[in-house]
Amino acid sequence: MPKSFYITTPIYYVNASPHIGHAYTTIVADVLVRYHRMIGEKTFFVTGTDEHGDKIAEAAQKAGITPQEYADKISAQFRNLWPKLAITNDYFIRTTDANHIETVRYILQKVYDSGDIYFGSYEGHYCVGCERFYMEKELVEGKCPDHQTKPEYRKESNYFFRMSKYQDWLINHIKNNPDFIRPERYKNEALAFLRDPLDDLCISRPKTRLEWGITLPFDENYVTYVWFDALINYVTALDYPDGKKFKTFWPAAEHLIAKDILKPHGIYWPTMLKAAGIEPFQHLNVHGYWNSDQSKMSKSLGNIVRPLDLKDKYGLDAFRYFLLRDMVFGLDSNFSEEAFVQRLNSDLANDLGNLVSRTITMAIKYCDGKVPRVSRKDKNQSLHEAALKTVTEVEASFSDMSLHKALIAIWDFINIINKYIVENEPWTLGKDPANKEKLTAIMYDLLLALRAIAVLLMPFMPQTAQKILRQIGAEESQDFNLISIKKDDALKAGSPLVRGESLFPRIVQEKENHVQEKKTSMIDLKPEIDYEEFAKVDLRVAKILAAEPVPKSNKLIKLKVDIGEERTIVAGIGKDYTPEELIGRKILIVANLKPVKLMGVESYGMLLATDADKGLTVLTFDREAKTGGKVR
Ligand code: MSP
Repeated sequence: MPKSFYITTPIYYVNASPHIGHAYTTIVADVLVRYHRMIGEKTFFVTGTDEHGDKIAEAAQKAGITPQEYADKISAQFRNLWPKLAITNDYFIRTTDANHIETVRYILQKVYDSGDIYFGSYEGHYCVGCERFYMEKELVEGKCPDHQTKPEYRKESNYFFRMSKYQDWLINHIKNNPDFIRPERYKNEALAFLRDPLDDLCISRPKTRLEWGITLPFDENYVTYVWFDALINYVTALDYPDGKKFKTFWPAAEHLIAKDILKPHGIYWPTMLKAAGIEPFQHLNVHGYWNSDQSKMSKSLGNIVRPLDLKDKYGLDAFRYFLLRDMVFGLDSNFSEEAFVQRLNSDLANDLGNLVSRTITMAIKYCDGKVPRVSRKDKNQSLHEAALKTVTEVEASFSDMSLHKALIAIWDFINIINKYIVENEPWTLGKDPANKEKLTAIMYDLLLALRAIAVLLMPFMPQTAQKILRQIGAEESQDFNLISIKKDDALKAGSPLVRGESLFPRIVQEKENHVQEKKTSMIDLKPEIDYEEFAKVDLRVAKILAAEPVPKSNKLIKLKVDIGEERTIVAGIGKDYTPEELIGRKILIVANLKPVKLMGVESYGMLLATDADKGLTVLTFDREAKTGGKVR
């Protein structure tokens, strides 16, 4: 029986549109599920939207529509985004779905019947702005820390979940299963919450205060409050209690969240499951926060990073790669477009892109455009061994969620392959037909290594993996799993090699000029200069006021020009232009050249011209330019 793997993301609130934080969690879940599918497990991947509660009701009111209409609109934004990021979820859940409402009511009734939900009264400091009660110790100088207002003292009757009853059980469960919550820092954080006595959890709101929720099965004057509704989505999606999926995928559940919702997932959820008689999930996997410009993303700071903008600008796989490579799972990361472009250029364009294109070009040249046939004795083991080592490292990274380490291992392998090319110099071997066999074996090893890279990258960068496989003639194979990397004959001799477009074109960033690699150029360029040096040249738009030949010269023309002030320049264009046709034109001049004397006439600047089919052509403008205007 194949192992089961069930992966979930948080269900996202529908009070705001998706940003890179949501995209990150969902992409990580996608990478995990693609990997587990690839190694032959039975998988199920769920994401969705969390639609009840005051925040949503309020946002809908502001927008002047019903909560349901509002939820439909934003939920659709999430649902429609995921395919654009190549997310392969099996199910998209909404807390307003009928089957979810039914499951929540079923569990509430079950826990109520077993005596773990009771009716009690709650009194405390209530902040109207937050619509929640505060404990004395949470207030700052007696005021709500968010709104800076003094809360009202209120007494309200509500339903409570007897969470305190399960405190000791939970502490033991966490201690006996050290990676139940991981990475470790979050396990420690959860245990720190549990050092204080756990309060019972208020799980309802009277309908007089909030209507937008699921009605309690045992009291229709109340609705369930947020978490008791939302967390249950993880079992609704499996058709709890009787569904086949529930039997297959529970308790193999891997929950993925960011640190913001550790408490509900690390404390409320396991105790709710315990009270409902359901086994605890497998792992709670907690990652850090993406910040932008070193601060938390927020509408008011205007620093929200939108996933589709980046995907459209740089391509999907580059976007997925950056998010996965740059964040150490568990720690916060700061998003910067500059860092993104640098990684794209160095890791993707230089390392991976160049490797693929040079290998394919050489293989086509030296192996007649086809995967060559090579006998086992000719195969070189060093690349193959490096591939096997990479597989082991990637497997380890997946089992402890350190996906950035998997990518580091794959890039180490890419560098080994690049080194192998440099050391073996196929281009030198190619000069002498006597080396044919050796060269063919090297090319086969390289193509096989590219195949390994494509398979290893599949979960991370599915489109790139496909492009590489197409180029090495392996697109049709069905054998795309890690085991296939272990075979040293995974490529079929005779398959056609295809030269493709460059996988990742280099992005030239303005700021990058100084770090950009020196390119060898085919044209005869002068040595590179800094922007500062260029900026010393003062280029201006000049209007020609008068023109006349310089006496005794057959090509010099003396021009009187206006650049905001009048000046004289002498230009060597007399063979190509008559003075008459020049008058009134706007041209480009270098205005800060040291004056020179030409045939006895002082020239205070130089006109710009270039070679035409015959003679010279003077640079002009294709739209009206301002006289004296600076040229940048
Ligand atoms: N609706 C609840 C979750 C209920 S799950 C039963 C909720 N929704 S949310 O829209 O606020 O989503 C929070 C989650 O979105 C985080 O846990 C994380 O997965 C993702 N992120 C939102 N902002 C993020 C960052 N800035 N950085 C990383 N991930 C973040 O909480």
